[in-house]
Amino acid sequence: MSGRVVVVGSVNVDLVLRAERLPVPGETVTGGVFERHDGGKGANQAVAAARLGRPTLFIGALGDDAFGHEARRVLEREGVDTSAVRTIPGQATGVALILVDRQGENLIAVASGANGLLDGPSVREALGRLGSLRGDVVLVSHEIPTATVREALRIARAEGALTILNPAPAAGLDRSTLGLADFLTPNRSELAALTAAETRRAGRRQGAGKDPAQLARELIEPSAEGPGVGQAVIVTLGSAGALLVRAERPDQPIEVPAFKVRPLDTTGAGDAFNGALAAGLAAGRSLEEAVRRAVVAGALATTRVGAREGMPSAAELEAALGS
Ligand code: RIB
Repeated sequence: MSGRVVVVGSVNVDLVLRAERLPVPGETVTGGVFERHDGGKGANQAVAAARLGRPTLFIGALGDDAFGHEARRVLEREGVDTSAVRTIPGQATGVALILVDRQGENLIAVASGANGLLDGPSVREALGRLGSLRGDVVLVSHEIPTATVREALRIARAEGALTILNPAPAAGLDRSTLGLADFLTPNRSELAALTAAETRRAGRRQGAGKDPAQLARELIEPSAEGPGVGQAVIVTLGSAGALLVRAERPDQPIEVPAFKVRPLDTTGAGDAFNGALAAGLAAGRSLEEAVRRAVVAGALATTRVGAREGMPSAAELEAALGS
């Protein structure tokens, strides 16, 4: 298999303030350094896949403003096909306010702008223009409306693509969407939020102390709400690597070890992981190998400030894998 990567998601401008530590509510922390970076989970994921040499198309929405024009130029420079990126008149491009502390941990708040107007019909039209998606991987994240996420996954599946859902953020997703994903890639807190919300909706008591493998298995099994995730839940564990729980062997989770780096900024690590996972699967790699490579790509992304700056090229990823 040697296919394309199609990413459906958000594009933002990131206004980043690096400070000694993150403030608590009501507190002011001074002495920070301000930087502007390119961002948005979807656009970051598209750049991650393109840098690894996969033909990559991004489906998203920009505002009709200076940030939007610049964001499009940057994506094109990265080799991402932006022919399905809409510019929405009268709207602002998405903006993320990001605080990063000395350990590289972050806090993010997003003003969605045009991302909030990316609708099902425009995604349907963009995917329709691609014809059959057999051999391709469609990666969807959740900084766009839930109905659009669902429509993108539904069409992608119907056209024969492998589908990856990055449930970031997790709020508002249920089985009607999760059940359309072949692969689900939550981090630890998104996994907990997805399973807790389902438990709440079912009127059951929250089970305390479940480990990520148990929670991932719950999302693979069908529930009263609908079908489970098709092939695997891959839990990103930050500096602890990732956990792969496959539908065919749910009782044998695979722990994928971390790649050790000194993180400067963890913003975008998950996006690098998802983009690299999609690139690996589109290149025909086995699931386990694609996850191992994605873990390394995610780690490398944390070695520079800014969501995209540290995302590796194919040569950089190979060098790290060989080291
Ligand atoms: O995952 C990191 C991204 O989340 C940032 O680039 C920011 O724009 C937010 O979307």
